[in-house]
Amino acid sequence: MTATTTDVPKTTTAQSLTLTDLVKTYASRGRESVTAVKGIDLAIEAGELVALLGPSGCGKTTTLRMIAGLETVTSGSIRIGDREISQLPASKRGIGVGFESYALYPPLSVRENLLYGLKARKVKGAEQMVASISSRLEMDELMDLRPAGLSSGQKQRVALARALVRNPPVLLLDEPLSHLDASARQRVRRELKVLQREFGYTTIVVTHDQVEALSLADRLAVMDAGVVQQFGTPDEVFDDPANLFVAEFVGEPQINVLRGVTKHVDGRVHVEIGSRAGALATAVTDVPDGTAVSVGIRPQDCTLSADGPGLRTTVAYFEHLLEFGLATSTVAGIEEGIVVQTPAQEVYEPEQEVVIGAPPERVYLFDADTGERLR
Ligand SMILES: Nc1ncnc2c1ncn2[C@@H]1O[C@H](COP(=O)(O)OP(=O)(O)O)[C@@H](O)[C@H]1O
Ligand SMILES: [Mg+2]
Repeated sequence: MTATTTDVPKTTTAQSLTLTDLVKTYASRGRESVTAVKGIDLAIEAGELVALLGPSGCGKTTTLRMIAGLETVTSGSIRIGDREISQLPASKRGIGVGFESYALYPPLSVRENLLYGLKARKVKGAEQMVASISSRLEMDELMDLRPAGLSSGQKQRVALARALVRNPPVLLLDEPLSHLDASARQRVRRELKVLQREFGYTTIVVTHDQVEALSLADRLAVMDAGVVQQFGTPDEVFDDPANLFVAEFVGEPQINVLRGVTKHVDGRVHVEIGSRAGALATAVTDVPDGTAVSVGIRPQDCTLSADGPGLRTTVAYFEHLLEFGLATSTVAGIEEGIVVQTPAQEVYEPEQEVVIGAPPERVYLFDADTGERLR
């Protein structure tokens, strides 16, 4: 697969996609209604690739189906450019969808399936475009097969190719790579990103996989319980989480979350953890002393030393992975262990006493009840 092919015609005029206070309530007789999407605002720029990232059931597919016109909107607005589309039938919206359940015509070969819509619209160069995109998605050997003979991963690539060849101004993909094996997923993901850049489609990719979201997206919308919790670049979301949910959902290994109490030391807000472990300096300015908080510290931001300021802890176990180590330490008086990512060459022993430090601006405080970030 090459990443430099230029034989794909760039015919799309990219357009912005704007969701305003979008709500979806599923109501059915005899059952309690479910509000799956609770007022989403998203302004996606022309040509941008946005990942909707969140756990199963948080409303990602519902959001995509409303944009595509496969589901009615309870309230709110959806605009492509300046055009309100929320009341238009799906076929009038000019949107390409690559949904998992997207039907392929069983009697037609993969090639015929891909060409089907293009031929109906008399698109010039359809054969070359289909050949080029399929080859870049590693589908050459599938072209003469019928859908019934395909594995789920192969079907998924055909669905993706079919959405791409339509060359829509707005492209919606729901978990487009979920059935591919790990190595194909990486290659197809890279090619998808390159194709998206070449075509310039405004694209939303739904995923529950943070690696996929971080590697594909210009910006991420992290969703939970029908609400966008944070919308920003991967760096913004990782470095400056808006709340505890985002901090815990994005990042691998997962962020450490500990209970702490704030206290000024030398004119700076510190957070005390455990009864005797010590305190960490923070960059927080607006939190009164004695506030019980949730403290978030990423394993990558922690350092271990023999002494000095920080949290006095004991190594419980140490895992030597190839590129780094993970030391899990315990603090007297608290239940949670603290995971620290250590440099590859360092080794720690169980029972070893270590002091955990972290840069103040990387010690995040969250409201102990609501999980909102305290600054
Ligand atoms: N057709 C439907 N009728 C009733 N409830 C639905 C329907 N589709 C989805 N839901 C509910 O809406 C919520 C969000 O679902 P969904 O958008 O599929 O989430 P996700 O794609 O993030 O996993 C879930 O609680 C789900 O059970
Ligand atoms: Mg879904």
